[in-house]
This record gives sequence, structure tokens and C-alpha cells, in this order.
Amino acid sequence: MIKVAIVGAGGIAGICHVPALRAQAHRAEIVAAVDVDAGRVQAFAAEHRIPAAYTSLAGMLDAERPDLVHVCTPPHLHAAQVVECLRAGAWVWCEKPVCLTLAEHDTITAAERGAYASVVSQHRFGSGARHLRDLVAGGVLGRPLVALCVTAWYRDHAYFDVPWRGGWATEGGGPTMGHGIHQMDVLLSVLGRWSEVRAMAGTLDRRIDTEDVSMAAVRFARPGRWRRWSTASCRPVRRVTCGSTSPTPPSSCATCMATATRTGPRPRRAGTPRRTCRVPTRRS
Ligand SMILES: NC(=O)c1ccc[n+]([C@@H]2O[C@H](COP(=O)([O-])OP(=O)(O)OC[C@H]3O[C@@H](n4cnc5c(N)ncnc54)[C@H](O)[C@@H]3O)[C@@H](O)[C@H]2O)c1
Repeated sequence: MIKVAIVGAGGIAGICHVPALRAQAHRAEIVAAVDVDAGRVQAFAAEHRIPAAYTSLAGMLDAERPDLVHVCTPPHLHAAQVVECLRAGAWVWCEKPVCLTLAEHDTITAAERGAYASVVSQHRFGSGARHLRDLVAGGVLGRPLVALCVTAWYRDHAYFDVPWRGGWATEGGGPTMGHGIHQMDVLLSVLGRWSEVRAMAGTLDRRIDTEDVSMAAVRFARPGRWRRWSTASCRPVRRVTCGSTSPTPPSSCATCMATATRTGPRPRRAGTPRRTCRVPTRRS
């Protein structure tokens, strides 16, 4: 059984990490929670039936010797806490952003000696991202030339009232670091690494020190391929229709196959119109 500890008993730990670990109860057990706020960690431990609550990471590592630590604290604490856990021999799953600078990243990498750290980048593992990667890899979309990556989310002023949000020293960036990081990660997972970045950032409305909007044009490293934010060179797309009347999705349709993989074949009632596959293809 993998002994897991959670550091940072805040929002994401309770909403996402505890349920994820409970879903793995056959191979992982939560042995401890840590937070500098004693009242919060005790309430967290009581609510989630976690046997031990600590206000010191070092104390927890020493007493519990966990195999794995989930780091769910504010971003500016990640690097030091990840390194502390690694040095204690624990593997680490750290919330994004894993750290604030490349120098911090080097420090984490240097501390990986038998135990390793990984960062939460959940969007690349979602069914949509997996499906997109399959389409690109299978050539269904043709040769990718240009891609748009947009994070147009909404967070009100109150969202940034949390002390660590919106500060360069504590969050390391605004929505670029806090939200867009997910979609950029998906884009990287689909199209590979960047070789060049040109970017602008500004603070237009929110009462924060960091940016509240950013835009970038990036050139991808793979030879002969361009990706950027805006373009007038996209050819129109059309929708293709599956010709199948079979109750199971046709094997030639990547979208339907993905559906079948996730949920199993869906019987089609007699007389219902043919399903329309939403695979865009370039107009020939
Ligand atoms: N992957 C995602 O989609 C996603 C979503 C939300 C948040 N996050 C990330 O999760 C992290 C936490 O976010 P949150 O919304 O849960 O924040 P939060 O403010 O709700 O919780 C952070 C907790 O850390 C505790 N803490 C502060 N200093 C500490 C220390 N030195 N030792 C131990 N505990 C300490 C705080 O008391 C608080 O309980 C951030 O890095 C954030 O970017 C990721």
C-alpha cells in the first residue's frame, strides 16, 4: 500500500486530491495532512478521515515516512517543499505550477535521486486532448500548420483576494501561469516543443500585480511547421458523415471509435437519422 500525505489543506486538496486518492484506495492510503493553519488541517483531517494532522512538513516527513506527497500549497512554496520531500525519499505529485523559475526547476531536478517529482497537468489526459492527439497522429486532420490556443476564462475580482493570487512573488504570474498553463500544456502535448516565443502581457482590469491578459506567437520546433495565435491562412473545414448504419460505430471514424472506446458501442434505434461525425477535414 502506498502511504500518501497531502500538504496544503485548501481548496484543490479537498475537492480533487482526496477524491482521486480515494478512488485508488486499493493501492493508496492517505496517512497524513499538513497545513500551517492548525485549525484548517484538523478540520480537513476530520472531514476526510485522515488519521494524522501536522502543521510542519518536516515533522510529518520524519514521523510518517510517506511514499508519496501531494503538494497543494501556494505556488511560491512548491520548489522548496518538493525538494524537502524528495530529500526525505518521498515521491512528489505537485500542483501546477511546479515552480516559479527555471532555476527552481533545476533545483528540483537535482534533488531527484531515486524519488521523482511530477506536476499536475490534468488537461492533457482528458478525453478531448487524447482524442485530438490521436487525430493528429493518425493524419485525420492533415498536416497541422497553424493552431490556436485560447484560454478565455472568467474569474471575478474576489477570486484574486486570496493573498497569494495575483502577486509575482507568490503566484509567479497571473492567468498565464494559473490557467492558460493547462491549455499551453495541451498544445505542447499535441504539437511538440516551441523554439521561439514572442509575447505581450498587460493588466487591464483586475486589481493584481501580475498580468490579467497575455498573448503570444510561438514557432514550433518541428521543421516546416508554424503555430500562432491568429492567421488568415486556414483553409475552410467541412464535416464528414459516417455512412454506417451499423449499431456499432464504424472503424473508419476516429471520433466514433473514441466514443466507443470510452463508453462502449451505442445501439442506434431504427429510423433515427445517421449520426454525423464531427471530424473536421480539409476541403479537398
Ligand atoms: N490543477 C488545477 O486545475 C488547479 C486548480 C486549482 C488550484 N491549483 C493549484 O493548487 C495549489 C493550491 O491552490 P488552492 O486553490 O488549493 O489554494 P488554497 O489557498 O485554497 O490552499 C492552499 C493551502 O496551503 C496552506 N499553506 C500555506 N502555506 C503553507 C505551508 N508553508 N505549509 C503547508 N501548508 C501551507 C494554506 O493554509 C492553504 O490551506 C496552487 O498551486 C494552485 O495553482 C491547481
